[in-house]
Amino acid sequence: MVEKRNPQTELWEKASQSRRATALAHPNIAFIKYWGNTDDGLRLPVNPSLSMNLGTLHTITTVTFDKNLKRDRLAINGEFVTGPAFKRVVGIIELVRTMARFKLRAQIDSKSNFPIGSGIASSAAAFAALSVAATAAAGLPADEIALSRLARRGSGSAGRSVPEGFCQWLPGNDEESVASSVAPVDHWELRDIVVVVSQEHKRVGSTGGHKLAQTSSLQAARVAGATNRFEACREALLARDLDRMGPIIEEDAVIMHGVMMSSHPPLFYWSPETMALIQATQRWRSQGLKVYFTIDAGPNVHLICEAAQAATVEAEARKIPGVSNVLSSGPGGEARLIGSFFY
Ligand code: DP6
Repeated sequence: MVEKRNPQTELWEKASQSRRATALAHPNIAFIKYWGNTDDGLRLPVNPSLSMNLGTLHTITTVTFDKNLKRDRLAINGEFVTGPAFKRVVGIIELVRTMARFKLRAQIDSKSNFPIGSGIASSAAAFAALSVAATAAAGLPADEIALSRLARRGSGSAGRSVPEGFCQWLPGNDEESVASSVAPVDHWELRDIVVVVSQEHKRVGSTGGHKLAQTSSLQAARVAGATNRFEACREALLARDLDRMGPIIEEDAVIMHGVMMSSHPPLFYWSPETMALIQATQRWRSQGLKVYFTIDAGPNVHLICEAAQAATVEAEARKIPGVSNVLSSGPGGEARLIGSFFY
């Protein structure tokens, strides 16, 4: 296995001695979307996906394995959590305990600097940070491939938040299906301007949506074209060619939403503001502003542009009625250990 984390060695050693580690991870935005699994339990995707980590946004998670704890405990943004979210996190802790061959209970504290419901998949950053912190605190080795695989088990897109910058995630079996970096943070000054039109919690989240994908008669066509879109998009990304990449990411997002809207039962994530932003993007482009949209499992719109256009895109987006917030981010680094973090 490749040990990619040399500058982190000291923090990994400290974590293993103290059974405590703090990790930071960024969320990511997919240019080519993951939608549907061949195995829902293992979160093995039906198609390759491609994304950019969002450097200004992060989740910081501390994991402490402690012999005095009677049960696992999870606090998110300072509040103790039980129920399905707790179970999903404990699922990852269980995998780590099995690998580390111990039974110590864990205290998990997690905090994010972006609001839940802001149109950014908070699970990606959360499970990437959890995987790194838990692995380090358990004294297991720093291995990017194993970390991406573990994060994927918590949330598919979290696997893509483990490596740095721009990442691809290929389908395959449990061993093969891991994310890796295709370009570093400084490859391209691309921006994601996240236009928030609704902070409402989604009725059907991604996990439920993935399970419905195969009930759409459009899913087979989406999957059949996904590899071509993925390869064309990766080439354009590597060439820093937004004119080539933009139409591909828009098509990929719209095809995914076509699948969502034609699933049984159907999932309509768009609101009137979503459509207004799609039309505005087309108008801005016809006026010479180089900007393209992508949309995840919600009504909020991600506007992708180069750094030079970011301020104009942001100002224009704020003028659209119904826009409640706008966040902006460039590429972000890998999920990594940081020094202690206190609340
Ligand atoms: C539309 O990774 O959030 O954002 O594995 O169930 O946690 P789970 O799903 P998740 O799905 C992401 C869906 C998407 C597209 C993408 O990020 O590729």
